[in-house]
Amino acid sequence: MPTVIVDDLHIVYRVHGAGSGKGSATAALSRIVQRRNSPSVREVHAVRGVSFVAYRGEAIGLIGSNGSGKSTMLKAIAGLLPAERGKVYTDGQPSLLGVNAALMNDLTGERNVILGGLAMGMSYPEVREKYQDIVDFSGINEKGDFISLPMRTYSSGMAARLRFSIAAAKRHDVLMIDEALATGDRSFQKRSEARIRELRKEAGTVFLVSHNNKSIRDTCERVLWLEKGELLMDGPTEEVLRAYEEHTGK
Ligand SMILES: Nc1ncnc2c1ncn2[C@@H]1O[C@H](COP(=O)(O)OP(=O)(O)OP(=O)(O)O)[C@@H](O)[C@H]1O
Ligand SMILES: [Mg+2]
Repeated sequence: MPTVIVDDLHIVYRVHGAGSGKGSATAALSRIVQRRNSPSVREVHAVRGVSFVAYRGEAIGLIGSNGSGKSTMLKAIAGLLPAERGKVYTDGQPSLLGVNAALMNDLTGERNVILGGLAMGMSYPEVREKYQDIVDFSGINEKGDFISLPMRTYSSGMAARLRFSIAAAKRHDVLMIDEALATGDRSFQKRSEARIRELRKEAGTVFLVSHNNKSIRDTCERVLWLEKGELLMDGPTEEVLRAYEEHTGK
């Protein structure tokens, strides 16, 4: 059963006012008034003709150097970026869990758990029922009562833990994780890897972007390797990682 079909996908970012140094509002206004076109629109072709099919129950790793297009591709699958060319078909609603997932810094961890749960489509009683599990899984309270403090008082690892715990509390058709585990400590990484394996068994598809090859080895059986927006390799984890490690000189 396919859950995600990506067919010859191209994503292009358009950066307005690049290089002109006149990105100000007054400059934009005067352009509008004088009916001149935007001086310089730079295009960044971030994904170039990627095609693959993902199936139910698969955990797929996404690797490649910085700026190779991994986050861009996940955003496109989540429907957050329009395709320049090609198509993305998904079965069910994909959820993207990124390093910048929208939690509110000024609200307490507790409020964020509740809001996050509601935002994922859980009902209020459902969120209340899962609340303690989420907090326990995150381990936020291991060092004192931090869940009742605002998120801005959390370390980056603590915030990442809470984000992952909220997202992982729900069954997802397609769950995409963009390096959310990277800032967690080793024990939390282990716990979240186990949770990823469970989510997969619940018949979903999981995508995991990581620069940590060990995390990929421990969770995924298939890996996509992106470089400069192109899909260089798509195959069994060991095969692709070996080629990648050779390429990066490890
Ligand atoms: N909002 C944006 N506007 C313009 N260009 C962007 C934007 N976001 C990303 N890019 C460009 O798109 C390309 C791919 O970026 P992307 O963030 O997808 O890479 P990545 O593989 O996730 O990298 P990393 O490993 O560093 O997270 C890069 O060249 C980047 O400069
Ligand atoms: Mg990225």
